[in-house]
Amino acid sequence: QLVPVIMAGGTGTRLWPLSREQFPKQFIALTDERSLLQVTALRASRIVEAAPPLAICGEDQRFLVGEQLRGCGMLSEVLIEPAGRNTAPAAACAALRAQARYGDQTLVLLMAADHVIADEEAFVQAVELASGVARQGKIAVFGIRPTRPETGYGYIRIGAEREDGAYELAAFVEKPDRERAEAFLREGGYYWNGGLFLFRADVMLAELQRFEPELLAQARLSLEKARSDLDFVRLDPESFKACRNESIDYAVMEKTDKAAVVLLDAGWDDVGSWTFLDQQPKDDCGNAVRGDTWLHEAHNNLVHAESRLVALAGVSDTIVVETKDAVLVTTRERAQDVKKIVARLKAEG
Ligand code: GDD
Ligand code: MG
Repeated sequence: QLVPVIMAGGTGTRLWPLSREQFPKQFIALTDERSLLQVTALRASRIVEAAPPLAICGEDQRFLVGEQLRGCGMLSEVLIEPAGRNTAPAAACAALRAQARYGDQTLVLLMAADHVIADEEAFVQAVELASGVARQGKIAVFGIRPTRPETGYGYIRIGAEREDGAYELAAFVEKPDRERAEAFLREGGYYWNGGLFLFRADVMLAELQRFEPELLAQARLSLEKARSDLDFVRLDPESFKACRNESIDYAVMEKTDKAAVVLLDAGWDDVGSWTFLDQQPKDDCGNAVRGDTWLHEAHNNLVHAESRLVALAGVSDTIVVETKDAVLVTTRERAQDVKKIVARLKAEG
Protein backbone atom coordinates (compact mmCIF):
# COMPACT_ATOMS: atom_id res chain seq x y z
CA GLN A 1 0.00 0.00 0.00
CA LEU A 2 1.24 3.49 -0.89
CA VAL A 3 -0.36 6.62 0.54
CA PRO A 4 0.10 9.83 -1.44
CA VAL A 5 0.30 12.77 0.95
CA ILE A 6 -0.30 16.15 -0.61
CA MET A 7 1.07 19.16 1.24
CA ALA A 8 -1.08 22.08 0.19
CA GLY A 9 -0.32 24.72 2.79
CA GLY A 10 1.87 27.12 0.81
CA THR A 11 1.20 30.57 -0.65
CA GLY A 12 2.67 31.28 -4.10
CA THR A 13 3.40 34.94 -4.79
CA ARG A 14 5.46 34.81 -7.97
CA LEU A 15 2.48 33.87 -10.09
CA TRP A 16 0.71 37.16 -9.50
CA PRO A 17 -1.76 38.33 -10.77
CA LEU A 18 -3.25 34.88 -10.97
CA SER A 19 -2.07 33.59 -7.62
CA ARG A 20 -3.39 35.60 -4.67
CA GLU A 21 -2.96 35.26 -0.94
CA GLN A 22 -6.48 33.92 -0.54
CA PHE A 23 -6.16 31.74 -3.60
CA PRO A 24 -2.63 30.36 -3.96
CA LYS A 25 -1.34 28.70 -7.08
CA GLN A 26 -2.08 25.10 -6.11
CA PHE A 27 -5.80 25.84 -6.48
CA ILE A 28 -5.53 27.38 -9.93
CA ALA A 29 -5.97 25.64 -13.26
CA LEU A 30 -2.68 26.56 -14.89
CA THR A 31 -1.91 23.79 -17.31
CA ASP A 32 -5.16 21.96 -17.64
CA GLU A 33 -8.79 22.58 -16.89
CA ARG A 34 -7.95 21.10 -13.50
CA SER A 35 -6.04 22.84 -10.72
CA LEU A 36 -2.45 21.91 -9.82
CA LEU A 37 -3.77 20.21 -6.69
CA GLN A 38 -6.19 18.09 -8.71
CA VAL A 39 -3.53 17.29 -11.29
CA THR A 40 -1.23 16.22 -8.44
CA ALA A 41 -3.88 13.92 -6.93
CA LEU A 42 -4.71 12.37 -10.30
CA ARG A 43 -1.02 11.89 -11.10
CA ALA A 44 -0.60 9.99 -7.83
CA SER A 45 -3.62 7.83 -8.60
CA ARG A 46 -1.76 6.42 -11.62
CA ILE A 47 0.57 4.58 -9.28
CA VAL A 48 -0.69 1.01 -9.14
CA GLU A 49 -0.76 0.46 -5.38
CA ALA A 50 -1.91 3.99 -4.47
CA ALA A 51 -4.57 4.57 -1.81
CA PRO A 52 -6.68 7.74 -2.04
CA PRO A 53 -4.53 10.75 -1.13
CA LEU A 54 -4.27 12.30 2.28
CA ALA A 55 -4.05 16.09 2.17
CA ILE A 56 -2.63 18.44 4.77
CA CYS A 57 -3.16 22.19 4.81
CA GLY A 58 -4.10 25.19 6.93
CA GLU A 59 -7.47 26.25 8.26
CA ASP A 60 -7.94 28.79 5.43
CA GLN A 61 -7.41 26.29 2.63
CA ARG A 62 -9.46 23.40 3.97
CA PHE A 63 -12.61 24.09 1.96
CA LEU A 64 -10.77 24.58 -1.30
CA VAL A 65 -8.75 21.41 -0.72
CA GLY A 66 -11.82 19.37 0.26
CA GLU A 67 -13.94 20.68 -2.58
CA GLN A 68 -11.29 20.31 -5.27
CA LEU A 69 -10.27 16.79 -4.25
CA ARG A 70 -13.87 15.68 -3.95
CA GLY A 71 -14.48 17.31 -7.34
CA CYS A 72 -12.09 14.88 -9.00
CA GLY A 73 -13.10 11.89 -6.91
CA MET A 74 -9.84 11.89 -4.98
CA LEU A 75 -10.59 12.70 -1.37
CA SER A 76 -9.70 10.52 1.56
CA GLU A 77 -8.92 12.84 4.44
CA VAL A 78 -7.72 16.38 5.12
CA LEU A 79 -5.50 17.06 8.12
CA ILE A 80 -5.93 20.66 9.23
CA GLU A 81 -3.05 22.58 10.76
CA PRO A 82 -4.08 25.23 13.31
CA ALA A 83 -1.08 27.32 12.16
CA GLY A 84 1.63 27.02 9.51
CA ARG A 85 4.77 25.29 10.83
CA ASN A 86 6.39 24.44 7.48
CA THR A 87 6.76 20.92 6.12
CA ALA A 88 8.47 18.97 8.93
CA PRO A 89 5.46 18.93 11.28
CA ALA A 90 3.18 18.30 8.28
CA ALA A 91 5.31 15.32 7.23
CA ALA A 92 5.39 14.01 10.80
CA CYS A 93 1.60 14.15 11.19
CA ALA A 94 1.04 12.60 7.78
CA ALA A 95 3.46 9.73 8.49
CA LEU A 96 1.78 9.09 11.86
CA ARG A 97 -1.66 9.12 10.28
CA ALA A 98 -0.61 6.78 7.47
CA GLN A 99 0.93 4.44 10.02
CA ALA A 100 -2.24 4.41 12.13
CA ARG A 101 -4.47 3.76 9.13
CA TYR A 102 -2.42 1.37 7.05
CA GLY A 103 0.36 0.01 9.28
CA ASP A 104 4.07 0.45 9.91
CA GLN A 105 5.34 -0.68 6.55
CA THR A 106 3.04 1.59 4.56
CA LEU A 107 4.81 3.61 1.91
CA VAL A 108 4.22 7.36 1.99
CA LEU A 109 4.73 9.50 -1.10
CA LEU A 110 5.10 13.03 0.21
CA MET A 111 4.25 15.51 -2.54
CA ALA A 112 4.02 19.24 -3.08
CA ALA A 113 0.62 20.37 -4.32
CA ASP A 114 1.96 22.85 -6.82
CA HIS A 115 4.33 21.13 -9.22
CA VAL A 116 3.87 20.22 -12.85
CA ILE A 117 5.29 17.02 -14.32
CA ALA A 118 4.78 16.86 -18.05
CA ASP A 119 5.67 13.19 -18.58
CA GLU A 120 3.43 11.23 -16.22
CA GLU A 121 4.61 7.87 -17.53
CA ALA A 122 8.21 8.70 -16.56
CA PHE A 123 6.94 9.87 -13.17
CA VAL A 124 5.14 6.58 -12.53
CA GLN A 125 8.25 4.60 -13.50
CA ALA A 126 10.47 6.65 -11.19
CA VAL A 127 8.01 6.12 -8.33
CA GLU A 128 8.03 2.38 -8.97
CA LEU A 129 11.80 2.29 -8.74
CA ALA A 130 11.67 4.46 -5.61
CA SER A 131 9.09 2.13 -4.00
CA GLY A 132 11.58 -0.72 -4.15
CA VAL A 133 14.24 1.51 -2.63
CA ALA A 134 11.88 2.67 0.13
CA ARG A 135 10.79 -0.86 1.00
CA GLN A 136 14.42 -1.59 1.86
CA GLY A 137 14.29 1.13 4.52
CA LYS A 138 15.58 4.09 2.50
CA ILE A 139 14.06 7.54 2.08
CA ALA A 140 13.93 8.02 -1.67
CA VAL A 141 14.44 11.53 -3.03
CA PHE A 142 13.99 12.50 -6.65
CA GLY A 143 16.85 14.21 -8.48
CA ILE A 144 16.16 16.70 -11.26
CA ARG A 145 18.92 17.71 -13.68
CA PRO A 146 19.68 21.36 -12.88
CA THR A 147 19.62 23.99 -15.61
CA ARG A 148 20.59 27.11 -13.62
CA PRO A 149 22.15 27.95 -10.23
CA GLU A 150 18.74 28.33 -8.57
CA THR A 151 19.04 29.18 -4.87
CA GLY A 152 15.45 28.29 -3.97
CA TYR A 153 15.99 24.54 -4.23
CA GLY A 154 17.75 21.78 -2.37
CA TYR A 155 20.77 20.18 -4.07
CA ILE A 156 21.58 16.50 -4.01
CA ARG A 157 25.01 15.07 -4.80
CA ILE A 158 24.73 11.50 -6.02
CA GLY A 159 27.13 8.76 -4.97
CA ALA A 160 27.60 5.26 -6.38
CA GLU A 161 24.95 3.69 -8.57
CA ARG A 162 23.01 0.89 -6.88
CA GLU A 163 22.08 -2.39 -8.49
CA ASP A 164 18.49 -1.30 -9.00
CA GLY A 165 19.47 1.84 -10.92
CA ALA A 166 19.00 4.28 -8.04
CA TYR A 167 21.99 6.09 -6.48
CA GLU A 168 23.41 6.49 -3.03
CA LEU A 169 22.99 10.00 -1.68
CA ALA A 170 26.38 11.61 -1.04
CA ALA A 171 25.17 15.01 0.16
CA PHE A 172 21.99 17.04 0.56
CA VAL A 173 22.28 20.83 0.72
CA GLU A 174 19.09 22.81 1.17
CA LYS A 175 18.94 26.24 -0.49
CA PRO A 176 22.65 27.01 -0.94
CA ASP A 177 23.74 30.59 -1.63
CA ARG A 178 24.44 31.70 -5.19
CA GLU A 179 28.17 31.01 -5.00
CA ARG A 180 27.73 27.44 -3.80
CA ALA A 181 24.96 26.76 -6.30
CA GLU A 182 27.25 27.92 -9.11
CA ALA A 183 30.05 25.72 -7.79
CA PHE A 184 27.69 22.70 -7.70
CA LEU A 185 26.80 23.23 -11.35
CA ARG A 186 30.46 23.56 -12.35
CA GLU A 187 31.47 20.48 -10.39
CA GLY A 188 28.71 18.28 -11.79
CA GLY A 189 27.11 15.28 -10.09
CA TYR A 190 24.56 17.55 -8.41
CA TYR A 191 20.80 17.42 -8.93
CA TRP A 192 17.93 19.53 -7.67
CA ASN A 193 15.75 17.98 -5.01
CA GLY A 194 12.36 17.60 -6.66
CA GLY A 195 10.52 18.07 -3.35
CA LEU A 196 9.02 14.57 -3.56
CA PHE A 197 9.89 11.94 -0.95
CA LEU A 198 9.02 8.26 -0.78
CA PHE A 199 9.54 6.30 2.44
CA ARG A 200 8.12 3.71 4.78
CA ALA A 201 6.18 5.42 7.57
CA ASP A 202 8.27 3.69 10.26
CA VAL A 203 11.56 4.79 8.64
CA MET A 204 10.65 8.49 8.50
CA LEU A 205 9.29 8.35 12.04
CA ALA A 206 12.53 6.77 13.27
CA GLU A 207 14.54 9.57 11.61
CA LEU A 208 12.28 12.21 13.13
CA GLN A 209 12.72 10.51 16.51
CA ARG A 210 16.48 10.74 16.01
CA PHE A 211 16.75 14.36 14.83
CA GLU A 212 13.55 16.04 16.05
CA PRO A 213 12.20 14.09 19.05
CA GLU A 214 10.42 17.11 20.52
CA LEU A 215 8.73 17.99 17.21
CA LEU A 216 7.63 14.38 16.74
CA ALA A 217 6.25 14.17 20.27
CA GLN A 218 4.17 17.30 19.76
CA ALA A 219 2.98 16.11 16.35
CA ARG A 220 1.92 12.80 17.91
CA LEU A 221 0.02 14.63 20.65
CA SER A 222 -1.68 16.89 18.12
CA LEU A 223 -3.06 13.79 16.38
CA GLU A 224 -4.03 12.01 19.58
CA LYS A 225 -6.04 15.05 20.64
CA ALA A 226 -7.34 15.80 17.15
CA ARG A 227 -11.03 16.34 16.48
CA SER A 228 -12.55 14.64 13.45
CA ASP A 229 -15.42 16.07 11.51
CA LEU A 230 -16.40 14.16 8.35
CA ASP A 231 -13.32 14.13 6.09
CA PHE A 232 -11.53 16.74 8.18
CA VAL A 233 -9.13 15.97 11.00
CA ARG A 234 -8.39 19.07 13.06
CA LEU A 235 -5.01 18.76 14.74
CA ASP A 236 -4.91 19.92 18.34
CA PRO A 237 -3.86 23.61 18.33
CA GLU A 238 -1.80 23.66 21.49
CA SER A 239 0.44 20.73 20.66
CA PHE A 240 0.69 21.46 16.94
CA LYS A 241 1.70 25.06 17.56
CA ALA A 242 4.39 23.78 19.92
CA CYS A 243 6.11 22.09 16.94
CA ARG A 244 9.25 23.82 15.75
CA ASN A 245 8.73 25.72 12.47
CA GLU A 246 11.01 23.79 10.13
CA SER A 247 11.07 22.20 6.70
CA ILE A 248 11.59 18.47 6.27
CA ASP A 249 14.64 19.31 4.15
CA TYR A 250 16.52 20.94 7.04
CA ALA A 251 14.98 18.79 9.78
CA VAL A 252 15.72 15.37 8.26
CA MET A 253 17.06 15.32 4.72
CA GLU A 254 20.29 17.23 5.35
CA LYS A 255 21.11 14.96 8.29
CA THR A 256 19.89 11.46 7.48
CA ASP A 257 22.16 8.69 6.22
CA LYS A 258 19.15 6.69 5.06
CA ALA A 259 18.47 8.49 1.78
CA ALA A 260 18.86 7.26 -1.79
CA VAL A 261 18.30 9.08 -5.07
CA VAL A 262 16.08 8.22 -8.01
CA LEU A 263 16.62 10.42 -11.06
CA LEU A 264 13.49 12.00 -12.48
CA ASP A 265 13.57 13.20 -16.07
CA ALA A 266 9.93 14.02 -16.65
CA GLY A 267 9.51 17.72 -17.42
CA TRP A 268 9.42 18.66 -13.73
CA ASP A 269 8.77 22.28 -12.82
CA ASP A 270 7.85 23.68 -9.45
CA VAL A 271 5.90 26.54 -11.00
CA GLY A 272 8.05 29.05 -9.16
CA SER A 273 7.48 31.72 -11.79
CA TRP A 274 5.65 32.30 -15.06
CA THR A 275 8.49 30.71 -17.01
CA PHE A 276 6.94 27.38 -16.04
CA LEU A 277 4.83 27.90 -19.19
CA ASP A 278 7.98 26.88 -21.08
CA GLN A 279 7.07 23.27 -20.27
CA GLN A 280 3.81 23.64 -22.20
CA PRO A 281 3.37 22.92 -25.91
CA LYS A 282 4.56 25.76 -28.17
CA ASP A 283 3.54 27.11 -31.56
CA ASP A 284 5.99 27.25 -34.50
CA CYS A 285 7.46 30.53 -33.26
CA GLY A 286 8.20 29.24 -29.77
CA ASN A 287 5.24 30.94 -28.09
CA ALA A 288 3.31 29.18 -25.33
CA VAL A 289 -0.16 30.67 -25.14
CA ARG A 290 -3.28 30.03 -23.08
CA GLY A 291 -6.69 31.56 -23.66
CA ASP A 292 -7.85 33.99 -26.30
CA THR A 293 -4.68 35.31 -27.97
CA TRP A 294 -3.59 36.72 -31.31
CA LEU A 295 0.09 36.81 -32.22
CA HIS A 296 1.76 38.46 -35.20
CA GLU A 297 5.49 38.16 -35.84
CA ALA A 298 6.02 37.41 -32.18
CA HIS A 299 8.58 34.93 -30.90
CA ASN A 300 9.26 33.03 -27.66
CA ASN A 301 6.53 34.76 -25.70
CA LEU A 302 4.50 33.34 -22.83
CA VAL A 303 0.92 34.56 -22.80
CA HIS A 304 -1.96 33.80 -20.45
CA ALA A 305 -5.27 35.45 -21.26
CA GLU A 306 -8.20 34.95 -18.96
CA SER A 307 -11.03 37.32 -19.75
CA ARG A 308 -10.07 39.32 -22.86
CA LEU A 309 -8.37 38.91 -26.19
CA VAL A 310 -4.63 39.56 -25.87
CA ALA A 311 -2.76 40.49 -29.04
CA LEU A 312 1.01 40.72 -29.49
CA ALA A 313 2.80 42.09 -32.54
CA GLY A 314 6.52 42.19 -33.15
CA VAL A 315 7.63 41.37 -29.59
CA SER A 316 9.85 38.59 -28.30
CA ASP A 317 10.72 36.96 -24.98
CA THR A 318 7.85 38.73 -23.25
CA ILE A 319 5.45 37.45 -20.62
CA VAL A 320 1.90 38.76 -20.63
CA VAL A 321 -0.66 37.65 -18.05
CA GLU A 322 -4.14 39.09 -18.27
CA THR A 323 -6.79 38.65 -15.60
CA LYS A 324 -10.03 40.50 -14.89
CA ASP A 325 -8.51 43.02 -12.52
CA ALA A 326 -4.80 43.12 -13.30
CA VAL A 327 -2.40 42.73 -16.22
CA LEU A 328 1.25 41.76 -15.90
CA VAL A 329 3.80 42.51 -18.62
CA THR A 330 7.40 41.48 -18.03
CA THR A 331 10.26 39.72 -19.76
CA ARG A 332 11.42 36.16 -19.36
CA GLU A 333 14.58 37.42 -17.68
CA ARG A 334 12.73 39.40 -15.06
CA ALA A 335 10.05 36.81 -14.29
CA GLN A 336 11.32 36.54 -10.69
CA ASP A 337 10.70 40.26 -10.13
CA VAL A 338 6.98 39.60 -9.87
CA LYS A 339 7.52 38.95 -6.18
CA LYS A 340 8.81 42.55 -5.88
CA ILE A 341 5.54 43.83 -7.35
CA VAL A 342 3.61 41.74 -4.86
CA ALA A 343 5.73 42.99 -1.97
CA ARG A 344 5.06 46.58 -3.06
CA LEU A 345 1.35 45.97 -3.49
CA LYS A 346 1.26 44.54 0.01
CA ALA A 347 3.20 47.43 1.50
CA GLU A 348 0.97 50.01 -0.16
CA GLY A 349 -2.18 48.11 0.74
N1 GDD B 1 0.48 21.60 4.87
C1 GDD B 1 1.47 22.45 4.69
N2 GDD B 1 1.86 23.22 5.75
N3 GDD B 1 2.06 22.52 3.50
C2 GDD B 1 3.09 23.38 3.35
C3 GDD B 1 3.55 24.21 4.40
C4 GDD B 1 2.88 24.12 5.66
O1 GDD B 1 3.20 24.81 6.64
N4 GDD B 1 4.57 24.95 3.92
C5 GDD B 1 4.74 24.60 2.64
N5 GDD B 1 3.83 23.64 2.28
C6 GDD B 1 3.67 22.97 0.99
C7 GDD B 1 3.69 23.90 -0.19
O2 GDD B 1 2.37 24.22 -0.60
C8 GDD B 1 4.39 23.08 -1.25
O3 GDD B 1 3.43 22.27 -1.92
C9 GDD B 1 5.31 22.15 -0.45
O4 GDD B 1 4.79 22.11 0.86
C10 GDD B 1 6.79 22.58 -0.42
O5 GDD B 1 6.89 23.79 0.26
P1 GDD B 1 7.64 25.07 -0.35
O6 GDD B 1 7.54 26.18 0.64
O7 GDD B 1 7.15 25.34 -1.74
O8 GDD B 1 9.13 24.55 -0.37
P2 GDD B 1 10.32 25.13 -1.26
O9 GDD B 1 9.89 25.29 -2.66
O10 GDD B 1 10.86 26.33 -0.58
O11 GDD B 1 11.43 23.97 -1.17
C11 GDD B 1 11.12 22.59 -1.32
O12 GDD B 1 10.81 22.26 -2.65
C12 GDD B 1 11.89 22.42 -3.62
C13 GDD B 1 11.39 22.00 -4.98
O13 GDD B 1 10.29 22.74 -5.36
C14 GDD B 1 12.34 21.80 -0.83
O14 GDD B 1 11.99 20.46 -0.70
C15 GDD B 1 13.53 21.96 -1.79
O15 GDD B 1 14.61 21.13 -1.37
C16 GDD B 1 13.10 21.58 -3.19
O16 GDD B 1 14.19 21.74 -4.11
MG1 MG C 1 8.04 25.32 -3.67
